[in-house]
Amino acid sequence: MERDVVVVGSGAREHAIVHGLAQSGATVWATPGNAGMAEEAEIFAAATPAEMVQFFGSRRPLVVIGPEAPLAAGWSDALREEGFPVVGPSARGALLESSKRLAKEVMRNYGVPTAEAKTAYNPDQLAAWVGAETRWPKVFKQSGLAQGKGVRILADPVEALATVEQWRELPQIWQDGILYEDFLTGYELSVQVVTNGHEYEWLPVARDYKRLTPDPKSPNTGGMGAVAPILDLDANAVDRINRQVFDPIMTYLTEEKILYRGVLYAGLMMTDDGVQVLEFNVRMGDPETQAVIPSLAVDWWEFWLALSHGQVPKVPPPHRAAVAVVMAAQGYPEKPVSGLPIRLGDALPDTLLYHAATTKRQGGWESDGGRVLTIVGLADSVPEARGRAYARVRRVQFPDSYHRPDIGE
Ligand code: AMP
Ligand code: GLY
Repeated sequence: MERDVVVVGSGAREHAIVHGLAQSGATVWATPGNAGMAEEAEIFAAATPAEMVQFFGSRRPLVVIGPEAPLAAGWSDALREEGFPVVGPSARGALLESSKRLAKEVMRNYGVPTAEAKTAYNPDQLAAWVGAETRWPKVFKQSGLAQGKGVRILADPVEALATVEQWRELPQIWQDGILYEDFLTGYELSVQVVTNGHEYEWLPVARDYKRLTPDPKSPNTGGMGAVAPILDLDANAVDRINRQVFDPIMTYLTEEKILYRGVLYAGLMMTDDGVQVLEFNVRMGDPETQAVIPSLAVDWWEFWLALSHGQVPKVPPPHRAAVAVVMAAQGYPEKPVSGLPIRLGDALPDTLLYHAATTKRQGGWESDGGRVLTIVGLADSVPEARGRAYARVRRVQFPDSYHRPDIGE
């Protein structure tokens, strides 16, 4: 088989996936892709699976789907039906992410530890719960997909009611409901497994920096940086996470006959009372992927192809530490400014630069969204990788940007 592969998505996560595949000698396409990938992939437009089928004619390349939206919309099912080998769960599998309400129900039914929550379907209901609440903070979570921006931690009733009023203006979010959830404390880990719905293998554990700034009260974002591998889990903790989180989900997928060939991501809070699941994602994390992929020495073509056929590939121990720093445009996450000029600067050894939201104008680069670039440093240790990442960040001339100074600290 020719090593032909299409990556679906347009972020820095997909750039990292493209880069891994290009290094394994694959011929790579990307849709919608981004301008920064164009050196390694042929970019083309396909707004639907049908357009993808049309583009490839009788060819059937491997498809790796990066983001949650096409998975929730059933791309994986449609393309599999057309004969493409696909990495990515079915739409039913994707519900674990696209309906936080369903994910809660599954966790409850299968005994997966997670914070208590109930669902409000209208603002008055939620306001009434807030009025009667005695324990703060509380957490509001939009059940549907919200690009990492649907979660609010509310310190007190004043903040909570202000959010209710703000969200009252968004009728579409109430259909699937708002989870009203207990607040947990502890430290967070992103555990991602490659799975065929029955068996699974851990990818290197990563940590995501979700807050906009080092201030824990600053807004939640899609993720401002990541580190992999995180090595502070002992074998007991790994075993507990398997027994309490992944094994029950495998039972759920098997019992419900849900086709799942892809990555399952558990956002975990390690609390004094043990592990708790904050969320499931049905794809790799962004920016975790930008750290995890270059931390591994694997043939990514073989890896993803095996998974598309339902064989769970072996994951070797990480060969390098990776620190990924996101450079965001001014105004992110609320109103990022587009069209800001960027000069990427010279490359540095042991660093990678992934594009997310850039366009090329008159030969130069401009920002075109919130999270614009991810810069990765690679080394034998996290501190060294961190030094390299920030050295490369300093070479980028992007005056109207923001990045966290503390990734990997
Ligand atoms: P999620 O998208 O559900 O992972 O939520 C985004 C972020 O909000 C998480 O990474 C946590 O930092 C925070 N968060 C979510 N749920 C809770 C909770 N129940 N208690 C405390 N923090 C939470
Ligand atoms: N970095 C968190 C996510 O991808 O959802």
